[in-house]
Amino acid sequence: MMLRAYNNVTVPSFMYGTAWKKEATAQCVLLAIESGFKAIDTANQLIHYQEALVGEALQALDKKGVKRNTLFLQTKFTSVGGQDHRTPYDPSADLTTQVKQSFASSLAHLITDYLDSYVLHAPFSRRVLGDADWAVWSSMAALYEAGKTKMIGVSNITAGQLTELCQQANHKPMMVQNRCFAALAWDKEIREICRYQDIIYQGFSLLTANREVLVDPQVQEIARRLGATSTQVIFRFAMQIGMLPLTGTTSQQHMREDLEAERFELSREEIDLIEMIAV
Ligand SMILES: NC(=O)c1ccc[n+]([C@@H]2O[C@H](COP(=O)([O-])OP(=O)(O)OC[C@H]3O[C@@H](n4cnc5c(N)ncnc54)[C@H](OP(=O)(O)O)[C@@H]3O)[C@@H](O)[C@H]2O)c1
Repeated sequence: MMLRAYNNVTVPSFMYGTAWKKEATAQCVLLAIESGFKAIDTANQLIHYQEALVGEALQALDKKGVKRNTLFLQTKFTSVGGQDHRTPYDPSADLTTQVKQSFASSLAHLITDYLDSYVLHAPFSRRVLGDADWAVWSSMAALYEAGKTKMIGVSNITAGQLTELCQQANHKPMMVQNRCFAALAWDKEIREICRYQDIIYQGFSLLTANREVLVDPQVQEIARRLGATSTQVIFRFAMQIGMLPLTGTTSQQHMREDLEAERFELSREEIDLIEMIAV
């Protein structure tokens, strides 16, 4: 299945996330693509991601006939505050230069000359958007206008910041990527803004942020009815409420199970139940 962004770019409906895979990153990406994933999420941030090892896997896949243009590659610009000393840019340079340098380094790591999606990892400011956020967003928009990335997006954003971005930016984000807590009705406030603004909502840590939901008897009952697992129920729920889920598994069995979530169908009542389960 594919989703369509407001600028008509198509996006696979399930994404494989590469955070915290360390030296196993390349092997995990290989397994994910071989299992059927078409979209990969990474970041140019060595604390949590090994972007260059994603590139190593892409090179191996290319040799096996899996071509770049059949894959959707998403990576992120991470500001100095989210990096350690290994910044992929000169930290004393102005922000426009930092974005350019980080982007160029991502292309080199991923052995490509374009990205499908380029994401601001997190705004600098907590509540509103500050000058630094606007400077970074303008640089990312310039990369989009130059055709170097097909989409631009933002992660770890609040409802107020997203509204501000949509109202004031020359290009509003094509996608938002947020951690999705069941206790916040699975980030409903932001999802509603995304729906209204025609922005693709990507949800991450659907499992790790919601361990109690996986063992909830009502979710387990739905899983039993479908002959599925609780994790499959959560991923399917995410898709049916219009979300693009990320999975961060390292296990090929889980990769396959996660992709199979597209085979199930939850009823309206089951969706309503899960949406409000921890609120
Ligand atoms: N933008 C941001 O700031 C940000 C922050 C965090 C994450 N992310 C992105 O989101 C991705 C996913 O995040 P996450 O790792 O927290 O995701 P997750 O899918 O919620 O959690 C993955 C964990 O759940 C376990 N798990 C058990 N059964 C599973 C199953 N059937 N399918 C999948 N996982 C299963 C995995 O163990 P096994 O390995 O044993 O399966 C793994 O430990 C990251 O890799 C990253 O790309 C973005």
